[in-house]
Amino acid sequence: MSFLDSGSRLAPELIAFRRTLHRFPELSLQESETAAKVAQQLEQLGIPYRMGVGGHGIVAELQGECPGPVIALRADMDALPIQEETDLSYSSTRPGIMHACGHDAHTAILVGAAKLLVDQKLKGSVRFIFQAAEEVNAGAKAMIAEGVLNGVDEIYGLHNLPTLSAGMTATRYGSLMGSVDRIEISLEGKGGHGAMPDQSIDPVVCASAIVMALQSIVSREVSPFDPVVITIGSIVSGDANNVIPKNAVMTGTIRTFDPLVQQFMPERVERIVKQIADAYRCQGVVKYIHQVPVLVNHEANVRHVDSIIDRMIGEERRITAKPTMAGEDFSIYLRQISGCFFWLGSGPIDNAEQAFGLHHPKFTLNEDCIPLGASLLAEIATQRLSDLSR
Ligand code: NI
Repeated sequence: MSFLDSGSRLAPELIAFRRTLHRFPELSLQESETAAKVAQQLEQLGIPYRMGVGGHGIVAELQGECPGPVIALRADMDALPIQEETDLSYSSTRPGIMHACGHDAHTAILVGAAKLLVDQKLKGSVRFIFQAAEEVNAGAKAMIAEGVLNGVDEIYGLHNLPTLSAGMTATRYGSLMGSVDRIEISLEGKGGHGAMPDQSIDPVVCASAIVMALQSIVSREVSPFDPVVITIGSIVSGDANNVIPKNAVMTGTIRTFDPLVQQFMPERVERIVKQIADAYRCQGVVKYIHQVPVLVNHEANVRHVDSIIDRMIGEERRITAKPTMAGEDFSIYLRQISGCFFWLGSGPIDNAEQAFGLHHPKFTLNEDCIPLGASLLAEIATQRLSDLSR
């Protein structure tokens, strides 16, 4: 029986498992119940696992007949601080917490892949990485630090995409998702009466100039063929309409699509902030925090995923993914070893492009993607083990 058929047979139990996770979502760094539910599944399958890896992460390993290559498959498990606004019978029972990115489905998909692979004669090993804390960009780093990639040859992962119909997939060579950096800018001026600006140093006017000037990095310092986003998302300063405040604090996010472009961003931001602050007589301090690198897929691994998709469900069910500036900490694994991350359609069959997107309070997921995702991951791992041990 093909993995597609056996995956379909597992659909009811995988969907039931996903719905349980959906009803009881847990925020990043707090996924203890979710991890326990995954452990219970692995226990039933008799697959050895380790809990508490890099926080609440779990690593399980299915050994093949003989020692050989190791393929890792990864899913994330955390939910978001969002109040669910769907009317689903299995919607979140926890106020203000929701699986609005479908990581519940990713977890069910990876459990499904383990179920499909457990009685296969593998030409090597498959390592299952159930990762915590993806939404706060902490989980991958922590798990790698605890050695989850030791001995791994290649890694594969997927993310559901509600704006692509279930049954479809999207892959991309090279960069797929943007880098994520956080900036925190603090400005110190001199407070005073709003009617006597000459006796103050106004950090609000200085902050305004900096917000505008930062956009000139995008338009004047980077090639128009290299996309960059600089968003200042918060500005906090002052309490009264007639008082010039002493301080202003801004936070922002910076996205790039090329590791080389990302590399020069700290210098650019610091220079503009420092020198404009100076021009406006303020003290300016920038804290530049790298969160995740650009997600760059490796060529041979994309080719492998493409060939599996084409063989299993047909080339007409695979499109070239559009690049996105959203970040994903799977990129950190891909900096260490080769692999491929791809999109699995999770939207309605008709008008999927109008579906509510990831992180939306009305996000829903077409559960037909769950057995398909499990089947694809199982086949990707099995076939690759055969190829590598040839
Ligand atoms: Ni996500």
